[in-house]
Amino acid sequence: MAFQIRPQRPQDPEHFDSLLDRTFGTDRLNKTVYRLREGVADLADLRFVAVGPDGGLLASLRFWPIAIGTAPAILLGPLAVEPALQGRGIGRALVRHGLGEARRLGHRVCAVVGEPEYYGPYGFVNAPAVGLALPGPVDPRRFQVLELEPGALDGLSGPIGRAAPA
Ligand SMILES: CC(C)(COP(=O)(O)OP(=O)(O)OC[C@H]1O[C@@H](n2cnc3c(N)ncnc32)[C@H](O)[C@@H]1OP(=O)(O)O)[C@@H](O)C(=O)NCCC(=O)NCCS
Repeated sequence: MAFQIRPQRPQDPEHFDSLLDRTFGTDRLNKTVYRLREGVADLADLRFVAVGPDGGLLASLRFWPIAIGTAPAILLGPLAVEPALQGRGIGRALVRHGLGEARRLGHRVCAVVGEPEYYGPYGFVNAPAVGLALPGPVDPRRFQVLELEPGALDGLSGPIGRAAPA
């Protein structure tokens, strides 16, 4: 189906929580990645939506700032596509666009917790294998990281934490 990716606008309807509840369920709030987002604002210039021909919201992607040791990095997600519209390339278009914009804005490292089969094609690699750890339980297979700039992971290690307050 036809869709368009664009930045989220302040006047967009606030359907996001309902979309996230329908895709992830409400117990998402107990996950380790939510601990990293708690009390920290998402990156306003990395909020994207997919909209249909009538302007209706089909999917959304946001990114949060995090810290790897003392180095700034970003966390991809939540990424959610309307359940009835999954598997039609909308998620892929959003992730491609979001990572491209993150790179353009100078972000250097992006982490994600998700399916390796889904994120591998973008270049994400297993994060524990390169010495990274999350501050809570996570399936180590699903914790992945991507260099947005070649060599950006060199010398980075240690726990991932919340971004320092702006
Ligand atoms: C996962 C999700 C974001 C994918 O978006 P989507 O629009 O359905 O996916 P796309 O159509 O862009 O798929 C791109 C590719 O990834 C594959 N894929 C889709 N979902 C997948 C998953 N959960 N695991 C592995 N691969 C997946 C597709 O088969 C497709 O591969 P192909 O190009 O070889 O056909 C979406 O299905 C969703 O919102 N799911 C529920 C919430 C969720 O799990 N979010 C992701 C958190 S990491």
